[in-house]
Amino acid sequence: MKIGIIVYSHSGNTLSVAQKIEQALRGSGHTVGIEMVEPVNGDPNSSAPVKLKTAPDISPYDAIIFASPVQAFTLARVMKLYLSELPSLTGKKTYCFVTQHLKKTWMGGKRAIRLISEACKVKGVDIISSGIINWSSSARDQQIDELVKRLGTIK
Ligand SMILES: Cc1cc2nc3c(=O)[nH]c(=O)nc-3n(C[C@H](O)[C@H](O)[C@H](O)COP(=O)(O)O)c2cc1C
Repeated sequence: MKIGIIVYSHSGNTLSVAQKIEQALRGSGHTVGIEMVEPVNGDPNSSAPVKLKTAPDISPYDAIIFASPVQAFTLARVMKLYLSELPSLTGKKTYCFVTQHLKKTWMGGKRAIRLISEACKVKGVDIISSGIINWSSSARDQQIDELVKRLGTIK
């Protein structure tokens, strides 16, 4: 399968997890590419409207994994905008994960996953599997291992 991992990552945490999943998927024989969503203004605390500098084309992929950090207790605005501008996802397998600093998934993680799921639904697909990495949790490495195992073996 041709798999695209579409990543927004402000400080590198989400990207580092995406790279582990990429390695696992390559090991399973898939063709995998990480593509970055990039804002014009890199300051996530800016109150100005978000504009995208780079919006990856999803058309080459059979399966897509969307990956983003949680910001301000919800999905990062950059990923929210990118998802809203996507064409139809019909026929593509979709997955997602988010990373968040705080240890509790109700502090933004669950809401962010729900928003990705809703955005994909609008584009015609259901998210097949998702995950939340709590960066400050002592269970972080286990969470990452579990996610890499799960998303790294999609078929
Ligand atoms: C502007 C901003 C807001 C954030 N808000 C939250 C939050 O509400 N809840 C949380 O758990 N983490 C929050 N974080 C922390 C990030 O979600 C966390 O560090 C994440 O792993 C960063 O991923 P990245 O390195 O890929 O950008 C915030 C980070 C930034 C920069």
